[in-house]
Amino acid sequence: MIERESFGQDGLGNSVEAITISNQNDTRVKIASLGATIISFARRDKNGKMQDIVLGYDDASDYLEQNEYYFGATVGRNANRISGAKLTIGGVEYTLEANSGGNNLHSGSNGISHRVWEVAETDEKENSATFQIFSGDLEQGFPGNMTIRTTFRLTEDDALHISYEAVSDRDTIANFTNHSYFNLSGHDSGYIGRQKLKIYADEFTPLTQTGSIPTGEIRPVKGTPLDFTEFKAFDGEFDSDYDQIVYVRGFDHNFLLKNNGKLELMAEAVSEETGIHLYAYTDCPGVQLYTGNFIKEHRGKAGAVYKERHGFCLEAQYVPDAPNQTAFVTPLLKAGDVYRSETVYRLTLDNI
Ligand code: BGC
Repeated sequence: MIERESFGQDGLGNSVEAITISNQNDTRVKIASLGATIISFARRDKNGKMQDIVLGYDDASDYLEQNEYYFGATVGRNANRISGAKLTIGGVEYTLEANSGGNNLHSGSNGISHRVWEVAETDEKENSATFQIFSGDLEQGFPGNMTIRTTFRLTEDDALHISYEAVSDRDTIANFTNHSYFNLSGHDSGYIGRQKLKIYADEFTPLTQTGSIPTGEIRPVKGTPLDFTEFKAFDGEFDSDYDQIVYVRGFDHNFLLKNNGKLELMAEAVSEETGIHLYAYTDCPGVQLYTGNFIKEHRGKAGAVYKERHGFCLEAQYVPDAPNQTAFVTPLLKAGDVYRSETVYRLTLDNI
């Protein structure tokens, strides 16, 4: 079922809509047209109680005020960091906004995550909604007039499929992600430390001490706190003295996936309190694990108080700074080609 309602206005007075997609199990996902943002994702827990498992806010103005966290947003044209806020495509250098130290983060402070998208299509049969936005040539500094579509589809087995499509009239960068912060014990339940995670990756990309840019090294996770090849709770690792954890006060690292561009399981996570088990799939080459290390204490949805380590992100994407580094695949989109990518977040219940 698909329902539409108002979700306030952006800073320019444009109205923002929220679309709720629900299925027969009463699992529901709500998406705002501001940033094509997931504002809630809820299902029943093992005690029959509805649990909203993503961090968010009550209306559009809160999202605009707290935009540095990107709660639930569609991020692009390039997710994550670009060193020196510069990149070169076809021998031409392009300058982006230096909004994170001297680097570019999530393409800049006023990009597609913070703008109102058009609700292009809703489909009752597919149980899906498609949002579309136009990003003009050199907007956010990237070449090419680009049309971007993000489709959210909820299946009867509680899988939320997020599909991206983008076309540009010049060679450019295309690297989109969803920036949901999960808390499988409920968005208002606080510290995520006891939740367990498994990541289907044997290698990660270490960061520089400041600036959070990959050094270019590809390092095995084995023997490090980043080894999530078997289920492991975050707790105990957060306060590790391993330099990579110390640099970013927790996890904020990209893991290299082995999917060869096919939709495959990238991670699983579970809360023993609610029994909610997340299966995450993608066709992207990497996944950024971010544990909300820099969330300042502030008010979220329905009076919840959020702070650091209250949510974790599994952002499917290319390796950060890939356009500037030879060790990683560049998210280059040729003029006229269609960028397509899909990520799935599926929820089940464990009998714990
Ligand atoms: C980045 C973090 C950043 C967060 C919020 C994540 O994708 O990896 O470094 O703090 O987004 O902007």
